[in-house]
Amino acid sequence: MATAELAGKHLVLGMTGGIACYKIAELTRLLVKAGATVQVVMTEAATQFITPVTMQALSGRPVYTSQWDARVPNNMAHIDLSREADAIVIAPASTDFLAKLAHGMADDLLATLCVARECPLLVVPAMNRQMWANPATQRNVAQLRADGVETLGPDSGPQACGEVGDGRMLEPEAVYEAIASFFAPKVLAGRRVLLTAGPTFEPIDPVRGITNRSSGKMGFALARAAQQAGADVHLVAGPVALDTPWGVFREDVQTAQQMHDAVMRAVPDYDIFIAVAAVADWRVDHASDHKIKKTADHRLPSFTFVENPDILAAVARLPHPPFCVGFAAESGDLDVHGEEKRARKNVPLLIGNLGPLTFGRDDNEVVLFEASGQKKLPRADKQALASTLIAEIAKRLPDTSLIS
Ligand code: C5P
Repeated sequence: MATAELAGKHLVLGMTGGIACYKIAELTRLLVKAGATVQVVMTEAATQFITPVTMQALSGRPVYTSQWDARVPNNMAHIDLSREADAIVIAPASTDFLAKLAHGMADDLLATLCVARECPLLVVPAMNRQMWANPATQRNVAQLRADGVETLGPDSGPQACGEVGDGRMLEPEAVYEAIASFFAPKVLAGRRVLLTAGPTFEPIDPVRGITNRSSGKMGFALARAAQQAGADVHLVAGPVALDTPWGVFREDVQTAQQMHDAVMRAVPDYDIFIAVAAVADWRVDHASDHKIKKTADHRLPSFTFVENPDILAAVARLPHPPFCVGFAAESGDLDVHGEEKRARKNVPLLIGNLGPLTFGRDDNEVVLFEASGQKKLPRADKQALASTLIAEIAKRLPDTSLIS
């Protein structure tokens, strides 16, 4: 999550009856942390599962539970609350509440403000698998989708009732990601983005190898930002300890050669390639297939290295390459090396940073190199920077409508 990525957004968070209500405490915390203001509205049933006091403490605002709440001067909470909102999110959305929404019923405050809304409505279903599979529920959900309501989930897995199947609510982090994605400008709508990220691991023997200190954070942040910008995203990742960004297709590899092969297999289907991985330049020729042992006479092992394929250069050399973006981590003289590297790799855009200073950090400062010149971006956390870079990439894409 980027710092304050939902700053200025006002959400009505509607809670309906279901055991998943306890997870909404965490969702509220995530939304508030991201800078959103959150007005919680609970149905009578929701208050049986978690108290309004808890939700007030987490959201920092008094909770509304009744249509007849005297706090609203004109006594029209359903109008006032929905007019202020940038979106209404119903989480958890019960079977009963989905049915009410599908039929436009307005028999309590939350249902009424949904009917009275002018803003988008997102629902996060949570129910037993049979209730979800029930044809009436499926009809209602289809109707809601046809009415322009966004459904987030449900997920599949173990349920509070002890059964296993479809219907469980998405985890709070996934709901948060879907909401953040919903608000992101769709500058890459309809585009397909292939990325590499992280280090590679070049084995010496079954237990040892050569790698580097790339954390993968910048590449993963870019994959998340591209997904939020509306692209289909395929992330080829070296060995990193990071969660897959929501909605991103991830393929894990170890070595540079595996990364090269995965990219070359996928690339014909993509129109943007962003090479963020810190690919090892060399690998050990003929890695040992058994652990290399110390010898009694203290003889040191020696290795022959061979060069790894340059994935970015190979993609840029294709007869019909996607729009290629490279990264360069330099330890000094970025101005000179950045442009030289861009020209050598023959890519339209190269993003340079002072690599050893940024490895593993959560923020970064970069310079964009392109044929027409350089542009420095201010230091920012990697997720915020990723969104800026995606917007910069989007501006430079050839207009597909002009390609016959
Ligand atoms: O040559 P250098 O490693 O500094 O180039 C960095 C850029 O090239 C990055 O975008 C990196 O992902 C890409 N690269 C690659 N394959 C390699 C080496 C680098 O795709 N073997």
